[in-house]
Amino acid sequence: MSKNYGYFDDAKREYIITDPMTPTKWTNYVGTIDFGGIVDNTGGALLCAGDPSLNRINKYIPQQLDTDFKGATLYLRVKHSNGYSLYSPFFTPCLTPLDSYACHVGLSYQRIVSECAGLKIEATIFVPTESKVEVRDITVTNQSNQPLEVDLIPVVEYSHFEALKQFTNADWVPQTMMSEAINDTPDTLTLLQYPFMRRDGLVNFLTSDRPVDSFESDRKNFLGVTGTWAAPQALTLDSLSNYEARRGDNIGSLLIKLGSITPQQSKRTIVLTGQASRDTYAELIHQFRDHNAVDAAFAGQAKYWDDYLSSYQCETPDANFDAMINVHNPRQCQTTFNWSRYLSLYQLGLGARGLGFRDSSQDSMGVLASIPAKAKELQKKLLSIQKPDGSAMHQFYPATMEANEGDSREEGEKLTYGDDHLWIILAVTAYIRETGDYDYLNESITFYDKNLPLDQREAAPVIDHLERGLHYTKHNCGKHGIPLLGFADWNDTVNLPGDAESFMVASLYGAALLEVIELFDYLGNEAKVAQYQADHADMKKVFNDQGWDGEWYRRYYTADGAPIGSKSNSHGKIYTNGQSWPVIAGFAGEERAQIALDAVEENLNTKFGIKLSTPGYDGYDPNLGGVSTYPPGAKENGGIFLHSNPWIMIANTMVGNGDRAYKYFCQINPAARNKDLDTYEVEPYCFAQNVLGDEHPQFGLGRNSWLSGTSSWTYQAATQYILGVKPSHHGLQIQPCIPRDWKGFTVRRSFRGANYAIKITNQNSSDQTVSHLTVNGEIIPGNTIPIAQPGTQNTIEVTLGAACPEHAVA
Ligand code: GLC
Repeated sequence: MSKNYGYFDDAKREYIITDPMTPTKWTNYVGTIDFGGIVDNTGGALLCAGDPSLNRINKYIPQQLDTDFKGATLYLRVKHSNGYSLYSPFFTPCLTPLDSYACHVGLSYQRIVSECAGLKIEATIFVPTESKVEVRDITVTNQSNQPLEVDLIPVVEYSHFEALKQFTNADWVPQTMMSEAINDTPDTLTLLQYPFMRRDGLVNFLTSDRPVDSFESDRKNFLGVTGTWAAPQALTLDSLSNYEARRGDNIGSLLIKLGSITPQQSKRTIVLTGQASRDTYAELIHQFRDHNAVDAAFAGQAKYWDDYLSSYQCETPDANFDAMINVHNPRQCQTTFNWSRYLSLYQLGLGARGLGFRDSSQDSMGVLASIPAKAKELQKKLLSIQKPDGSAMHQFYPATMEANEGDSREEGEKLTYGDDHLWIILAVTAYIRETGDYDYLNESITFYDKNLPLDQREAAPVIDHLERGLHYTKHNCGKHGIPLLGFADWNDTVNLPGDAESFMVASLYGAALLEVIELFDYLGNEAKVAQYQADHADMKKVFNDQGWDGEWYRRYYTADGAPIGSKSNSHGKIYTNGQSWPVIAGFAGEERAQIALDAVEENLNTKFGIKLSTPGYDGYDPNLGGVSTYPPGAKENGGIFLHSNPWIMIANTMVGNGDRAYKYFCQINPAARNKDLDTYEVEPYCFAQNVLGDEHPQFGLGRNSWLSGTSSWTYQAATQYILGVKPSHHGLQIQPCIPRDWKGFTVRRSFRGANYAIKITNQNSSDQTVSHLTVNGEIIPGNTIPIAQPGTQNTIEVTLGAACPEHAVA
């Protein structure tokens, strides 16, 4: 029986953590990549501005013990006749048991409410929309029956802005770090911090709305020679030393004396951490010292989320499904959209990464209904790192737009990934289906060439970018006629030497072709439709001739022509993406699709999700690459790599198997692991990237939570394929594929400026084709709701299942 660590409060759209010592740190995100980062369940923070690797504020070391101080904290002390008692209202680093603790994981805010020493401390941590400041809004209430004299001591530990340098150079970094105290008003003090080279530029700041008794900016002074974060020696004294560090390990700590708090009295304090230029920080601070401005910013953020989430809300027979699809999953999609795979407790943002081309393309697809303009902005950045030959750079740093070839650089043999450029085709066409913004196709965007200044780079309309991507794959095939793998495809870890071929790249190409065909069909360009249909038919034939292994599809050919993902292999006999994608691409005929998906159920499914392949490779093999660096059952090597699960859900809806699609959703719904957290270990309110598979002794253990393509795709699978409300060029297409025993469900969806209240009734038959569809009472033939006038409210009634022959779909 697992320990209980918390529960969902659906009405408040929060998960409430009730034990500060969760099995790993559990995190939440505040702000955006422009300014923001991670706040953990014990109030630690990792903030960055614009780029985690190039502009980091806090020193937060995930590998340090979870009982440690990380990035930021708050001490509280109560004065007695003979000294002070010291507490950590967020539990770490003092670790003194609290009388109560609750961490409310909210939509872009973290609220930690705790009780100790007769006091209640409520701290709400958030980043006001579009501002470069973290607000800690702290209210202390005296619940005892005697007055208490209370001090608050917020602390931040700083990193050099170049995140990696902090860990690679322990002379240069400390020689440059400095702090400076400014009395910006007669009553207030701001502690600035910067590496010397930024003295006249961007500075970090820590301040409060209350007068500051004293401060400390040097870690050694704060802790004392034998002190620790659990018992800093400076906090035994009445005041801090007011030392302005000129080098060393810089911290910011403010001693804020709240004075006497009488029984039942509350005192509110605002603590601000941020970054601004020397000329502008005072203005920013001034703005958020005002309690009304803090309240308005917090309300503004709640409104942002109301609007964001209102674009798709469902009510189904399954409350867990609804909680995920209405709140936590779209919220995670916004998070992956912002952070890609750049900054989490697992992706440390120290420089090796940046935003990924394939990752961000897929992330943009998870936010289209809510923030299409932002999605487009990101897509345009991605298109600008596509190369003139149609392939793409693998990743880029958002602060500089400098792109690179990712991990392929380590090997050096092949610098292109077989798949990157195909994802952006899916992303751009999905954006256009959502918005009807066909002008986007004509917008001119440059191709990437790091040797040329921006104004000398070749530019072309977006549609050319997409067509060049198709062209690249068509003309880069191997000896079986299957597209070349390059360094890797979606599966980063199968790195086959020479001219290996990838069936997944072939399928992605097929899926991209289908989208482009639909687009040109809508635009009335018959020649292009014919051309791409022919390409699709050609690849479909080769794919089926070369790829069918008898009971499932193969996944790769090595350069020597040996299949991988075949019954002839001893390990890696069958791969999940090898089966889902041919269905999505329209390559698998009905019979093969069923057989392949049955093979997934039989060979790859577990109670915690579908494994990526099986059996796991057992030993390092340089000819396979990264996949064989993991033990069997871990990550891509036979682990449950959750990102691939929604593709199997989608494929199952395409063959009409709603029961299975739903079962696969439930298996990976993290909320379902709330009972099982001593095994699962990671946050139950967001998808993880990987869960250990059944070949591993720790089967069921999750890792790499938050930043995973699982989020965008599970959201798409649930909303567009299981519930089946999908944007098309002609309107909202209704094609649900739900469990047979669901009697129906409702969806509220906004689409191209109009609102649709959709009620779907399932006549309880296994045939779930739309038999009857009315729009505002009028019967419409087919299963597509026509595009309504912006601003209108539309009532849609849909019946599924063969009935009323006179209303049968045309
Ligand atoms: C990681 C990468 C992603 C890749 C996946 C499978 O999630 O960010 O790009 O597709 O692993 O290897």
